[in-house]
Amino acid sequence: MDDIVDVHCGIAHTRWATHGVPSEVNCHPHRSDEGNGFVVVHNGIITNYKEVKVFLEKKGFCFESETDTEVIAKLISHFYQQHPNFSFRELVESVVQQLEGAFALCFKSKYFPGECVATRRGSPLLVGIKTVTRLATDHVPILYGKEDHRKSSIDKDADTNSDFRPHGRADYPTLPRTGSTSEFEPLEDKQVEYFFASDASAIIEHTNRVIYFEDDDVAAVKNGRLSIHRLRRGGDDPHKREIHTLKMELQQIMKGSYDYFMQKEIFEQPDSVVNTMRGRVNFETKSVTLGGIKDYIPEIKRCRRLMLIGCGTSYHSAIATRQLLEELTELPVMVELASDFLDRTTPVFRDDVCFFISQSGETADTLMALRYCKQRGALIVGITNTVGSSICRESHCGVHINAGPEIGVASTKAYTSQFISLVMFALVMSEDRLSMKQRREEIIEGLKNLQSQIREVLKLDNEVRTLAEDLYKKKSLLIMGRGFNFATCLEGALKVKELTYMHSEGIMAGELKHGPLALIDESMPVMMIIMKDPVYTKCMNALQQVTARDGKPIIICQEGDQETMAFGHKSLQVPKTVDCLQGVLTVIPMQLLSFHIAVLKGCNVDCPRNLAKSVTVE
Ligand code: G6P
Repeated sequence: MDDIVDVHCGIAHTRWATHGVPSEVNCHPHRSDEGNGFVVVHNGIITNYKEVKVFLEKKGFCFESETDTEVIAKLISHFYQQHPNFSFRELVESVVQQLEGAFALCFKSKYFPGECVATRRGSPLLVGIKTVTRLATDHVPILYGKEDHRKSSIDKDADTNSDFRPHGRADYPTLPRTGSTSEFEPLEDKQVEYFFASDASAIIEHTNRVIYFEDDDVAAVKNGRLSIHRLRRGGDDPHKREIHTLKMELQQIMKGSYDYFMQKEIFEQPDSVVNTMRGRVNFETKSVTLGGIKDYIPEIKRCRRLMLIGCGTSYHSAIATRQLLEELTELPVMVELASDFLDRTTPVFRDDVCFFISQSGETADTLMALRYCKQRGALIVGITNTVGSSICRESHCGVHINAGPEIGVASTKAYTSQFISLVMFALVMSEDRLSMKQRREEIIEGLKNLQSQIREVLKLDNEVRTLAEDLYKKKSLLIMGRGFNFATCLEGALKVKELTYMHSEGIMAGELKHGPLALIDESMPVMMIIMKDPVYTKCMNALQQVTARDGKPIIICQEGDQETMAFGHKSLQVPKTVDCLQGVLTVIPMQLLSFHIAVLKGCNVDCPRNLAKSVTVE
């Protein structure tokens, strides 16, 4: 490819602050010197940056920012001074061997014009490959040698054939050192563009052909050639990295006729829930098949307990389905926040089955918890929305929720799809239980009607907007419920916090009398979710306790439930479904409410302050 005449190379980064305030000086790229000898962008966190900084300061380097990242730019410059004959890739390899923490890095240098080197450890990284004409190499793995068995945990075209492909339960692999570099040489095509990115949605407008990197891959683009080198020492077998074709469409990551991604994603739910069930729930035979875990079901049925682990909204989907999982599997079910689970060094055993629920499949806390459980021999089940993500690749088996790309930072359609995925799992686990036949059939019937019922709920949009006008100047919002709808309270409160910066708390109605009741007076905004389910009477008791203290609750209740509405200050009516699915319908008014309050307050709906869609640092 020496005849390539034009090589352009640029790097950029949207920073989510870990060290140092969001400011121009802390922005990426960071540089080695004013002359931009080396520049770097970094997603992640360098935990030993203080030691590295002290070392570099002693060598005479002066720092301009408060970030951890700047040490990387200075360190590569230091190695360049020490080893002027090293290639750009060798310099990057020297640098990353000194770094601790999590990172995806992309480097550029004036000493290596037109070259770009990228690497990862712990943070996601992929490269998009765009060629003007299709190449004969389309189906050819770009690195040759021993198969990386983790790769096989996903289907290559998992967007359509959306189950994880099970493979053997090997221990978490230690990757061999190859010492060899393999190259992707674009044959007759002279025009190739490479896009390094953390997430496929960042590059889909340019290409749908990507390679996902593994930890310690070092990728270099030089003279139009992409080469990938393994960093870690070990055996001497090279790996291969396949080019995946994404099924994601550009249109899926555009707003269409909506003003905000979040709004679009809320209104996509009638379809996204159907996509989650497509090819899995057979409404005729009333059966459910999850191709990505079916081979593991006998093992799961023999397990000691199920553990559901996630963060934020994903954690709430576990809370929402825990009761049904306990009912249909008759197994103990633990629901854990990934960070707390790790803090406690929770005992995990070989006969545990651990579910890792994550929209992005990249959340660092969840990924660390996954590795922790895998090292202890547990079966790892991934529930993710992102094909090719780290959690998906590192799981033994799993379910792609197929909600489609979610762009709004506050998760909406992923929640309802995670919810349904876990319900489907519960159904699969109980398929041979005659005593549960009727219950299963009622749930499957409920799943069948969900699409039209979600459409009904979305018609509340104007009513919810009027409610938002009453609430958007308030300082706080309490959301109460219990049983199958408790998760809606937590998720509703999270949405309100994330989007509107208003204090909000999801309260277990059974706990009302143990503290939260002290907050109630005529001015405290309260919402209560009261459905005609097994905890209806208890919820009505809580409602009485609130109104007896001059509280003016806004009630989310079942369509036509005059009795409950009579006690409410205002109410929103949602269609009735089977108790364990009701949370899919009750959460939607909460999503709409947080959205409308955010718009009325002038908040940034899709990118709330201080938050990130995918948090790849612990
Ligand atoms: C971030 C996002 C949340 C999300 C959480 C877990 O905090 O802002 O919306 O629920 O991460 O993300 P995951 O991708 O693991 O579901």
